Amino acid sequence: MQGQDKPHILSPSRQDLWRFTESHIWTFDTNHADPDPALSILRTLLDQPRWLEAHLLYDERGSQLFEQICELPEYYLTRTENSIIAEQAGQMIAAAPVECIVELGAGTSKKTMHLLREQVRQREGGTFAPIDVSLTGLIVSRDILRQQFPQLKFQGLHARYEEGISSIEKDLPTLFAFLGSTVGNFTHSEFVRFFRHLSDSMGPKDFLLLGADRVKEVEVLEKAYNDSRGVTADFILNVFQNINRQLGSDFDLRKMRYYSWYNPEWQQVEMYAISTATQEIHFPTLSISFVWEKEDRILVEISRKFEPTRLQQQLQCFGLKPVAHFTDPKEWFSLLLSKKS
Ligand SMILES: C[S@@+](CC[C@H](N)C(=O)[O-])C[C@H]1O[C@@H](n2cnc3c(N)ncnc32)[C@H](O)[C@@H]1O
Repeated sequence: MQGQDKPHILSPSRQDLWRFTESHIWTFDTNHADPDPALSILRTLLDQPRWLEAHLLYDERGSQLFEQICELPEYYLTRTENSIIAEQAGQMIAAAPVECIVELGAGTSKKTMHLLREQVRQREGGTFAPIDVSLTGLIVSRDILRQQFPQLKFQGLHARYEEGISSIEKDLPTLFAFLGSTVGNFTHSEFVRFFRHLSDSMGPKDFLLLGADRVKEVEVLEKAYNDSRGVTADFILNVFQNINRQLGSDFDLRKMRYYSWYNPEWQQVEMYAISTATQEIHFPTLSISFVWEKEDRILVEISRKFEPTRLQQQLQCFGLKPVAHFTDPKEWFSLLLSKKS
């Protein structure tokens, strides 16, 4: 079948960990990954406060709902970031002389197409390797890319960040793009773990382009995560359908509601599911249950907001030296370009 050769973006010692999924897309072999998803979900659900890891939001329906969120009038993030990249992609690519662009948590890579266009214009080719837990987005971006940029090689990696990042060949000059302010979904400890791992896995000719949403008026922030059509609420509560499907558990979606607010001390929007009636949740594969009390919350997602100078300083602590800062006229969103030092 076409597109079945092992991707050259993967280091030879890690290639056997990937299996061919469909044309130009490979999946990380889960035998080497999390052995028991039920346990890792329960660990965070039994924590105080109860919380969930962000990747659980992106089953097929979750990915589709996220695409709808990106189009909402209240959700300024995608529009703003897209306009910055569309206008300044030429400078971004000129400042990062690379052969490959690896996108972390790529989704459908719509905004990245501006970078790819510049990569083709300035360097006539290269490789694009999006990494995502959701196969849906990888398929969409493969089809668009193969039609619009036949000069580029497409090597889609269906995996979690850490599995993808540690498999990338260090000697290939690579721009890691991490857009959409997805970095804001990390808790403080996940943030440290992620950037330590990313920086350790980067080679001396590598760059990072990080999209980060900035601190701004509370009203704007709160509206972006509580839209009038209720799409964000659907997206957040859909996580329980995904968990029920994966684990055979029995969260009752009719007995929960969505609640979000901006926590100014932590500079983050917090998105919760609140139980509207006491319910006992069973996990049959582990023979464990817990009682989710009425009015008790589960923190499903956070979206941290950043101050760009401070974020650049923090990245420097991980050996990522600032190269350039791109923003919009309102200074609502920032794209920070750093180089591995
Ligand atoms: C907030 S969306 C951003 C999508 C796209 N980058 C954008 O800017 O519109 C987060 C993306 O990261 C993916 N994702 C979430 N957790 C992940 C993980 N642990 N490993 C790999 N991908 C992940 C999701 O499937 C989703 O496509």
